[in-house]
Amino acid sequence: MLNSNLDVLPENAFPRLAELIAGITPAQSPILLSLGEPGHPMPDFVGDILQAHQSDYTKYPPIDGTPGFRSAAAGWLNRRFGLHACPVNPDGGVLPLNGTREGLFSIAFIVTPPRKADKQPAILMPNPFYQCYAGAAAAAGAEAIYLDAPAETGFLPDLDKLTPELLERTALFYLCSPANPQGAVAGLDYLKRLITLAREFDFVIAFDECYSEIYLDTPPPGGLQAAQMLAGERDGAGHPFANLLVFNSLSKRSNLAGLRSGLIAGDPMLLAKFRQFRAYVGPTNPLPADAVATAAWSDEAHVIANRALYREKFTVAEGILTGHFDYYTPAGGFFLWLNVGDSEAATKKLWREAGVKVLPGKYLSRTQPDGTNPGAQYIRVALVLERDSIAEGLRRIRDVLNG
Ligand SMILES: Cc1ncc(COP(=O)(O)O)c(C=O)c1O
Repeated sequence: MLNSNLDVLPENAFPRLAELIAGITPAQSPILLSLGEPGHPMPDFVGDILQAHQSDYTKYPPIDGTPGFRSAAAGWLNRRFGLHACPVNPDGGVLPLNGTREGLFSIAFIVTPPRKADKQPAILMPNPFYQCYAGAAAAAGAEAIYLDAPAETGFLPDLDKLTPELLERTALFYLCSPANPQGAVAGLDYLKRLITLAREFDFVIAFDECYSEIYLDTPPPGGLQAAQMLAGERDGAGHPFANLLVFNSLSKRSNLAGLRSGLIAGDPMLLAKFRQFRAYVGPTNPLPADAVATAAWSDEAHVIANRALYREKFTVAEGILTGHFDYYTPAGGFFLWLNVGDSEAATKKLWREAGVKVLPGKYLSRTQPDGTNPGAQYIRVALVLERDSIAEGLRRIRDVLNG
């Protein structure tokens, strides 16, 4: 009666956290730093646009979004990643998502064949990883391969370790840059290398770039940008975005997690298949939400202001945590990844003695067959609350764990 493919999935990270700290009464007022839900204000134009488009709630929205949305999304990608030689085409090159999570999940069904190289297909992902990738791999009937991304390899999977045997049966590779949880950013050479491997071994890359706009100084490069560079370097065979799809979102960039609005762009052949599949599933974006998204992708002022708020909090974090728990300021994203030795023990202690809720890195990573788990020593701390709560929370973390 049940789909046994799903048996490989453990309980999700947040129910595990709830179980870990159940029955503990915090000694101090709670500060919740476990969930990555942005707490900054949303752009001030949201309410007016929703109101102006209220009557559109009577209409079924198109699966392709509106032409205005697609132009705004393509325009943003082209400006942000300097896609002058190979611009994203608003017709066929980009589609809306009901949040990137939905698209990251669905894509596994479209690109996973029943067999590859006469074997069970593999879906590769970093370890630790955004949990949706593992759910998608299991549901699509693929074997999830967890590629450790520890400090020694810059918190990114080591591409040199991938064997031809594995790559031949690889259907999909999820890469998250900036990475959740470690904030690592893959450079252009890394991205180009991965695209080259995807084309050589005929697999698809899902570039999860939903933290691309949360950075300190240098904008993280993206998959489309790397593909454009490769197109300039090779003989021009094939579509410049062949084998790759990028995913981005308004959830972090514009503090609109509840709007459920993202985008997918890249290989037009893959997008056409994706579109056809999703017309059956039907995760459309309501037209008023689409109108907000159109305005949000067209405006950069609120994104700059948002980034400045995160920068202030990283300055606070540097002041409190430098020299403790292998602290580093991540190149992107809004998480701290702190080496506390034993992630579960530290999480319990912090909740009990400091009233600070964090997420054990162990729950974001898979234990490998040799018993190692690259997240087991870390806690993830989300810097999403306002500055004073973050400062108080980080001071408590430092004092309780060092005490
Ligand atoms: C790495 C990563 N990818 C994707 C998402 C999904 O974002 P959304 O579905 O809100 O666009 C999240 C949300 O936390 C995330 O951390």
